[in-house]
Amino acid sequence: MKKIIITIDGYSSCGKSTLAKQLAKKLDYVYIDSGAMYRAITLYFLQNRVDWTSQPAVVTALADIHLEFEYNPKSGASEMHLNGENVEHMIREMLVAEKVSEVAAVREVREFAVAQQKKMGARKGIVMDGRDIGTVVFPHAELKIFMTADIAIRVERRFRELYEKNKNISIEEVKENLELRDYIDANREISPLRKAEDAIILDNSQLSREDQMDLVMQWVEDAT
Ligand code: C5P
Repeated sequence: MKKIIITIDGYSSCGKSTLAKQLAKKLDYVYIDSGAMYRAITLYFLQNRVDWTSQPAVVTALADIHLEFEYNPKSGASEMHLNGENVEHMIREMLVAEKVSEVAAVREVREFAVAQQKKMGARKGIVMDGRDIGTVVFPHAELKIFMTADIAIRVERRFRELYEKNKNISIEEVKENLELRDYIDANREISPLRKAEDAIILDNSQLSREDQMDLVMQWVEDAT
């Protein structure tokens, strides 16, 4: 089977990363979580009090940011490192989630992240998930998937995930954050969240993980 590029875009908490990880494992591909890059940049901006509404401040800060995915054999996953520090856990916190869509709407931030993402796709055999991967990062990808799911299901999934780590989180807070991020992501001026014309829609509201995988593997076979 020839190696291809697979893009998975869609709304927050549709299960994009779960599917992307499963798929990469099955196909022996590299999985790249583009959202982790925007989250790490946001973490840096918060930690260093960078005003992301100021273009010069953003440009200066980005020059000091080095992002790297490093494989962790313990977790069996590749984890985000920001300037040499493993920030995988920190970037999943609510504090970052609350600001990431604002930061990801900044032109210079997107240019910085997209340039690195394009380089990662220089060799085939990758699965990348995000919001603009099929439209902007890899418009010529062989297989593009656009994921969606009922909002109630997405809220429930994300709530369960966050509650594991933080028992103080409320379901309302999670719902508000998802809706706000989806709104900002879909309405921003630069590379808004859109289904690429040639993307296949995957609504996994009612699909088990196994059924979803069978379906997607069929699409992979058709594309290779
Ligand atoms: O995928 P995840 O939910 O971790 O992404 C966090 C945020 O990063 C999204 O809500 C979106 O604002 C931004 N993002 C983006 N473009 C991508 C991936 C993520 O704007 N390709």
